[in-house]
Amino acid sequence: EETKSWEKLVNIAVSGAAGMISNHLLFKLASGEVFGPNQPIALKLLGSERSIQALEGVAMELEDSLFPLLREVRIGINPYEVFQDAEWALLIGAKPRGPGMERAGLLDINGQIFAEQGKALNAVASHNVKVIVVGNPCNTNALICMKNAPNIPAKNFHALTRLDENRAKCQLALKAGVFYDQVSNMTIWGNHSTTQVPDFLNARISGLPVKEVIKDHKWLEEEFTEMVQKRGGVLIQKWGRSSAASTAVSIVDAIKSLITPTPEGDWFSSGVYTNGNPYSIVEDIVFSMPCRSKGDGDYELVKDVIFDDYVLKRIRKTEAELLAEKRCVAHLTGEGIAYCD
Ligand code: LMR
Repeated sequence: EETKSWEKLVNIAVSGAAGMISNHLLFKLASGEVFGPNQPIALKLLGSERSIQALEGVAMELEDSLFPLLREVRIGINPYEVFQDAEWALLIGAKPRGPGMERAGLLDINGQIFAEQGKALNAVASHNVKVIVVGNPCNTNALICMKNAPNIPAKNFHALTRLDENRAKCQLALKAGVFYDQVSNMTIWGNHSTTQVPDFLNARISGLPVKEVIKDHKWLEEEFTEMVQKRGGVLIQKWGRSSAASTAVSIVDAIKSLITPTPEGDWFSSGVYTNGNPYSIVEDIVFSMPCRSKGDGDYELVKDVIFDDYVLKRIRKTEAELLAEKRCVAHLTGEGIAYCD
């Protein structure tokens, strides 16, 4: 087993590689904490013309760290070169939102980037590349990317909602007075936006339904939900820029969830393609849903979840928001003329 895993490098492409999120993420990848202590990796770093100097600096720091598992570092600004043979594509590069902006306000600016990167992945990446889209609005960017990469299975595209899941777990644990490892089955439904639905109906604390442990249901419905929905925005207000370290941690969590078997009875959230979903969520969008993995890089949707009016009503709202975003990028998905509300 061991010799086998030493034989082959895993090719990891990262866009926005000179940015803040990547500066945390790349050193985690290189250290072995993501793919394990026996798995050598190659990092293919995509920057922009504007960031190429900074990217050279990042590559220097990676080299100077003498990570035993880091066998190759390449940098570039052409996705058709950088994405060559990528088995993982972590698409972080995009203009981030500033104070007072909604993530959807970035649709125009960032959509184009993801169309181009989808085309590049389609042309040169491994045909089973797993793509995790982080740049906002990440659900719709993931959809754009997917639509421009018809040779890659639609299932392979993820929009990062793991940060929202982690935020929700933390708040539930704080409220219940338990350590956060006691919180499980945490679904984020829908868009990585303020319409997202952190599902306290199916989530569990120490194996019990959240509502049995936290009796203050008004807190769950109002404060908790809003806190998770607005956490990213509040952080931008306070820090003056969007979350970086916690985002990198959640990317690590998202990758690990796909390459290790999901613990019995638990699940994780990821924004994935809705075709064939068992929840009657509208098809042909990227929507955060509960997933399980055998650890092979793939996932299946969890079937045994329950719904109530509260959750369903909110699912419809986040679904409507994603449909509106989709209409607004029709020119980028090859589906006609864009119409923005
Ligand atoms: C976050 O959730 O912190 C990121 O998506 C950044 C943002 O715009 O909120």
